Amino acid sequence: MRTDQDQPVRLADYQPPSWLVDTVALDVSLHATATRVRATLKLKPNPAARAAAPLVLDGDGLALQSITLDGSPLPAEAFSATPDRLTIAQPPQRPFTLEIETLVDPTANTQLSGLYRAGATYCTQCEAEGFRRITYFLDRPDVMAVYTTRVEAEKSEAPVLLANGNLVESGDIPGTSRHFAVWHDPFPKPSYLFALVGGALGHIEDSFVTMSGRRIVLRIYVEPGKEGRAGFAMEALKRSMRWDEQAFGREYDLDIFMIVAVSAFNMGAMENKGLNVFNDKYVLASPETATDTDYASIDAIIAHEYFHNWTGDRITCRDWFQLCLKEGLTVFRDQEYTADQRSRPVKRIADVRALRAHQFVEDAGPLAHPVRPEVYREINNFYTATVYEKGAEIVRMLKTMLGAQGFRAGMDLYFQRHDGHAATVEDFIACFADATGTDLSQFMRWYRQAGTPELAVTMSYDAKAKTCTLDVTQMLRPTPGQPDKEPMVIPLAVGLLAPDGRDLPLTRANAGPVERGVAVLTRPAETLVFTDVPERPVASLNRGFSAPIKLTANLTPDDLRFLAAHDTDPFNRWQALQTLASTLLTDNVTALRAGRSMRTDPGLIDALRAILADPALEPAFVAQALAMPSEADIARELGKDVDPDAIFAARTALRATIGDALGSPLREAYRRLSDAGPYSPDAVSAGRRSLKNVALDLLAASGGSAAIALAARQYHSADNMTDRMASITTLSQHPVRERQAAIDDFYRRFESDPLVIDKWFALQAAIPEASTLERVRELSRHPAFSLGNPNRVRSLVGAFAQANQTQFNRPDGAGYVFLGDTVLALDQRNPQVASRLMTAFRSWRALEAGRRAKAEAELRRVAAAASLSTDVRDIVERSLAPA
Ligand code: BES
Ligand code: ZN
Repeated sequence: MRTDQDQPVRLADYQPPSWLVDTVALDVSLHATATRVRATLKLKPNPAARAAAPLVLDGDGLALQSITLDGSPLPAEAFSATPDRLTIAQPPQRPFTLEIETLVDPTANTQLSGLYRAGATYCTQCEAEGFRRITYFLDRPDVMAVYTTRVEAEKSEAPVLLANGNLVESGDIPGTSRHFAVWHDPFPKPSYLFALVGGALGHIEDSFVTMSGRRIVLRIYVEPGKEGRAGFAMEALKRSMRWDEQAFGREYDLDIFMIVAVSAFNMGAMENKGLNVFNDKYVLASPETATDTDYASIDAIIAHEYFHNWTGDRITCRDWFQLCLKEGLTVFRDQEYTADQRSRPVKRIADVRALRAHQFVEDAGPLAHPVRPEVYREINNFYTATVYEKGAEIVRMLKTMLGAQGFRAGMDLYFQRHDGHAATVEDFIACFADATGTDLSQFMRWYRQAGTPELAVTMSYDAKAKTCTLDVTQMLRPTPGQPDKEPMVIPLAVGLLAPDGRDLPLTRANAGPVERGVAVLTRPAETLVFTDVPERPVASLNRGFSAPIKLTANLTPDDLRFLAAHDTDPFNRWQALQTLASTLLTDNVTALRAGRSMRTDPGLIDALRAILADPALEPAFVAQALAMPSEADIARELGKDVDPDAIFAARTALRATIGDALGSPLREAYRRLSDAGPYSPDAVSAGRRSLKNVALDLLAASGGSAAIALAARQYHSADNMTDRMASITTLSQHPVRERQAAIDDFYRRFESDPLVIDKWFALQAAIPEASTLERVRELSRHPAFSLGNPNRVRSLVGAFAQANQTQFNRPDGAGYVFLGDTVLALDQRNPQVASRLMTAFRSWRALEAGRRAKAEAELRRVAAAASLSTDVRDIVERSLAPA
């Protein structure tokens, strides 16, 4: 944590490093409070940099013990060392060797960046700037070196010693109770990919034969006794390895691939070369403790970190402005992996839901920034939905525009050209331009311009000329620092549906057939004329969500119901229902705010009934179709004067109506899908459970005591966590006596399992009732809670702020004060997690006046606190900056 007022870092100021590092030999002697780190660096002047330069190494809270240059102690006047920097003003302008010894205290490291302890286990987290908390270094991703790591420790304390690469040597240290291991990673890498682990860990082992016939050892390390819960993660790893060979021709390179699950981790997981470190939440699963959603997350995150081996490790980022180069691309790759393993349309719907919930909201508020930011004060605050999810959408648009073959050719060229190097977004895009002969210069605006493009489409039909015309305009609103915008390249996938539901062939006047059904828009306004259209069609626009935009069109409710019933694009069938529901809900919120009564939409109910009755549809899709827009979705649609209580009321009323009107088909679906048989986490079984549990929840929403009894019965008889969690979640939404009984039972069953108790915290934090804040305060004093563990904090406080719209946004502002208090208390310990929590205020300006004033007051109170981390200060100041 640097609490000084750091200068902002600007992309425009990028300079290549003056010095390069060929090799790093680290010798780490683990000790709970005094770990000695000896780093031997072979440095050389960078031929690509300007002349003679001082050597300035980064540090963060370091204590220098000794320093030698080419074997001789460096005289005190030849260097200066502070905790944050080591400078040698006049180093020899030739290759030389520096040996630096530092002392670090892993037990006192509560930030979980650098070398720290997760329970008793020693582990590291170096992305983005954690390596400088271990030793002085050129801690920037364009400095790539070959690492050899020797780790030693007490045999009793850390029988397992791991680092990146392949094991070259290990043994006891004679005459002591200590032992050592030496690991060598032959692939040059930036310091942020360094990792080491030491501890008393159990493991499971398997192997994988690559496409060229090499046998790779696979190991997953967990706390002893939890080996039985790592099997699914291992299967996911093998599927990922095979998929990357088949989909991208990418083979694994080292002889061993290791994953370590740790109980305290700031993020989800980390792609350190050959030694991924995971939050144990994303490794450990058993039917009794993990939900279908947990299994799906594990599958996706194991894949994501594994895929980084090529997109991130072999090819890394030149600087942190290029973060989307590895993260956006790797998210795209993990999304495609999941789509291939499970159901492509259902995955697309889930991803678009997440994009709108996180990224669209970010883009509409004070924290909006381009996918490639141009300035930052704290890089940790840029691991955002925009960099990740919008970054992935940009890659997806490339594929949509270039076609699968063109896209693959561009990727192949990227791997060929940039393997072993630190690349930029320009390098990446140039590969697609060169491989396919496409001009992508205007497309680059997706990386530079923040905000969500808004597209308005008017369709008209000329019966005489048999033409169908789409008049399209695009608009991009100002965002912080970007008052004026230029038109974007928008790949719009379009279909024209005949009255019988057939897709009409698309031929554009003077331009011929529309390739892959995608019209590429480039101007503020354009007109698309389709010829030979025999009858008035219904337009299906932005199919598959081909571009991450907000779309409005002159579609009538009848058109939307037609699309919901007949569109050949499953995404747009789902979207049509969402649009109908969203219109109804926002109308009703407005009505409630004006003291008018709400309307109903029998057409929407009929459309939902038809979806529920369609045997051709997969249950997971039907479940998505029946899931109405969330409270946060409705707030986002409204965009201003947001009153969470009115939103809650409108949404609750709609769900009650659905549960009522579709009572018997929902009960029938519940019965039909309640098959016994052993639990399996596969996508089809999970889809059946999700529809069954959506049905249960809608039935309970209609207020019947029979549904509550059904939920209570399911809770107590469940043989898997998915069904248990779904039923207790349903119960938790209703003030019935069965609720507290289930909550108490849940604690007794799982009290020894922190990851399951996290679900218990989150469940209670999300209860939409006035007593919840007091309950959350009490739970924050529960023995199972700790500010020292990020999973606990996210489960209780994060869930309260993100999943409980009415109670976080209490009109009296007490929810905001609670969050502010928690952020201030946590900031001393773990600024990264504190600043994440603080982003819960990102939409404060969209609130109605009363709440807006309370939220602003709380932001100002936090801003005025005596000592704030760079992380929290950055978020608070950007949140408050004049709109
Ligand atoms: N490289 C990140 C992890 C990371 C980010 C560590 C920032 C430290 C600071 C990793 O590849 C990642 O993106 N993890 C995600 C999950 C992923 C599936 C999107 C995470 O940790 O949330
Ligand atoms: Zn990642």
